[in-house]
Amino acid sequence: MSMQFWKPGTVAPGSSLDRATESEGALLQSAPVSTAFVGLQEQRERLPIFRYKRQLLYTVEKYGVTIVVAETGSGKTTQLPQYLFEAGWAAKGHVIACTQPRRVAATSVATRVAQEVGSILGDEVGYTIRFEDVSDKQRTRIKYMTDGMLFRETMVDPLLSRYSVIMVCTVPPESSLRADDNKVDEAHERSLYTDLLLGVLKKIRRKRPSLRLIISSATLDASTFLHYFSSSPPQPFEATVLNIPGRMYPVEIAYLSEPTEDYVRKAVQTVWDLHLKGNRDGSGDVLVFLTGREEIERALYEISELLPTLPNSAPRLNVVPLHAGLSTSDQLQVFQTSERGSRKVVISTNIAEASVTIDGIKFVIDCGFIRVHNPVTSLSSLVTQPISFSSAVQRAGRAGRTAPGVCYRLYTVDSLSQLSKSTAPEVTRVDLTTPILQLKGLGIDDLMKFEWVSPPPAENVLRALETLVAAGMLNRDDARLTEVGAKVAEVPVDIGVARMLWGSKEFKCGEEILTIAAMVAVQDVFVIPDGAAGAMAELERRKFTAEEGDHLTLLNAYNAFIRYGKSSKWCQTHALSFRAMSRAVSIRAQLKKYMTRFGLPTESCEGDATRLRRCLVSGMWRNGAKWVADGTYRSVRGNVTLHVHPNSVMFTRKPRSGWVVFHEMEETKKTQIRVLTEIEPDWLLEYGHKYLDRHTGEVKT
Ligand code: CDP
Ligand code: MG
Repeated sequence: MSMQFWKPGTVAPGSSLDRATESEGALLQSAPVSTAFVGLQEQRERLPIFRYKRQLLYTVEKYGVTIVVAETGSGKTTQLPQYLFEAGWAAKGHVIACTQPRRVAATSVATRVAQEVGSILGDEVGYTIRFEDVSDKQRTRIKYMTDGMLFRETMVDPLLSRYSVIMVCTVPPESSLRADDNKVDEAHERSLYTDLLLGVLKKIRRKRPSLRLIISSATLDASTFLHYFSSSPPQPFEATVLNIPGRMYPVEIAYLSEPTEDYVRKAVQTVWDLHLKGNRDGSGDVLVFLTGREEIERALYEISELLPTLPNSAPRLNVVPLHAGLSTSDQLQVFQTSERGSRKVVISTNIAEASVTIDGIKFVIDCGFIRVHNPVTSLSSLVTQPISFSSAVQRAGRAGRTAPGVCYRLYTVDSLSQLSKSTAPEVTRVDLTTPILQLKGLGIDDLMKFEWVSPPPAENVLRALETLVAAGMLNRDDARLTEVGAKVAEVPVDIGVARMLWGSKEFKCGEEILTIAAMVAVQDVFVIPDGAAGAMAELERRKFTAEEGDHLTLLNAYNAFIRYGKSSKWCQTHALSFRAMSRAVSIRAQLKKYMTRFGLPTESCEGDATRLRRCLVSGMWRNGAKWVADGTYRSVRGNVTLHVHPNSVMFTRKPRSGWVVFHEMEETKKTQIRVLTEIEPDWLLEYGHKYLDRHTGEVKT
């Protein structure tokens, strides 16, 4: 395999990886001892934050809002809540909350801290993420949660009165790393719910000044937050910034000399070459950034194909995935220290960029892309786009946390100048329909008066409001919540799914719709590996296939899972993920509670698939698409060319009516739709008309 890397300044352009590895060899010599044999307590005391413990506690005592600036991995998330706990902030039934923008970050960090504290997870230390609560109402003192969950909690407890301190992690990209990466003057990449939560917390602090906030932030964001949390003129002890210097080792950067067509393959090659030519003892783990689960699985598969050719003399290779679709226990594999004579390769989504820290990484391979929500189209649409410059810097930095490292960028040095400086905060880019419904649910009616850290474009707010009016969630005249809207705001699903649940009353199919709603909330229920095993799995899956499409196929799989006693063995022989199926069971139970509470019956449609499909359309009529002769579809909204995802049972089949609704849309090189069901075109019109715009006569989308 020939490599096309060169390092500016160190090796001539076009030279192979061999030369590059020589210099890495030298760097590797100076690697510090592994932390495997160091006790937990000692590890804690080694973190940069440890020496600032007293100062931190003093500041939190004194100031309402403390903005902590420290590099990723310095111990903010794992240590600070423990310091507060030890100092008595969780006395008298109080809870210390720490929010994370991602599910994986919340669960992995909670697990780690439970270990450090010596508690069973879910007891003194717990976590809460959507559809999964591993915490105890009475006993949990330190609670990790996604910011979305804490935001939701304000609907039940508007002053968040159980919490004495709330720490919000804002996922900071690093400001600058090395000379040639220069300064980044703006660096934001906050998640949508981080911003919504900050807005609500600011409001709460006015009414309950005893609440303490800690905002963990990047250098460049710190002044934004300081400004945001200070009144004008500033009052004493309102907000302050605390800087904690971190440790960072130099990271060499290598680029491709030619752009690559296929960065997944390139990443695999790079891992392989690196492994064969790197240290004999396997020291120096590798972190690979790809954009999503499918790419990660492909890379795993391609590496596994190469493994039989690994020479006996080479160290072992332990490849582990990291993405949001993994179970908590699978995620934790990533953090296991590699044994001597074995090299760990973590293949991850953007999660490992700033939300989780893995020790022992010496090599980073960066594909240069990220998957984000699409600003233009709405419902569940994702696009793959080049990362920002600040992301590139942050990703490279992951190689230099414990010793000098190397980052291989799978793009050319020229393309660096084309990267945008930073990615705008999510709130300015994404569909706001569900968040705005939730803000209304919190009684925040005047959205223009809501204090955004970064205000979203007015047109996005307006579009969301129109959608909500069209969906019957807001009154047309005063944009206040309707009776249904107020209820839907409480349910943790997007409004399309919510409308389906409410629609099931009319179509008498609550039983089945509930299952479908749970199954679509879980990703990747079917496990279809590549190769021969995949063909077998595909045959197994066909046993569940419904003519009508994916929604009913999912329903069949779920019902069979229940009929065969929820057995993991049974799942294995039927190409189903036991973990995903179990999650669906739990989500279904939770959604069912909402249905009961809102008086929605859970009758069965008794096998009447037409009724069921009409109910699907009542929720998803905005996602209609028409089949065209070349096997693709055109969306009703926007007339976009859509490709069916290969996982769909509709992949090779033309719908008899020529029409479908779909649940999800994703943009990579082309726009793909997943989870399709065949429908009659009249049904789309029927729902379209219900939401017809009074003024223009156009169907509102
Ligand atoms: O929040 P911040 O990025 O400052 O750091 P952290 O998440 O508190 O991580 C501090 C250290 O804890 C990391 O450098 C890891 O050594 C360790 N850690 C771990 O071993 N397992 C985890 N799940 C999380 C952190
Ligand atoms: Mg953190």
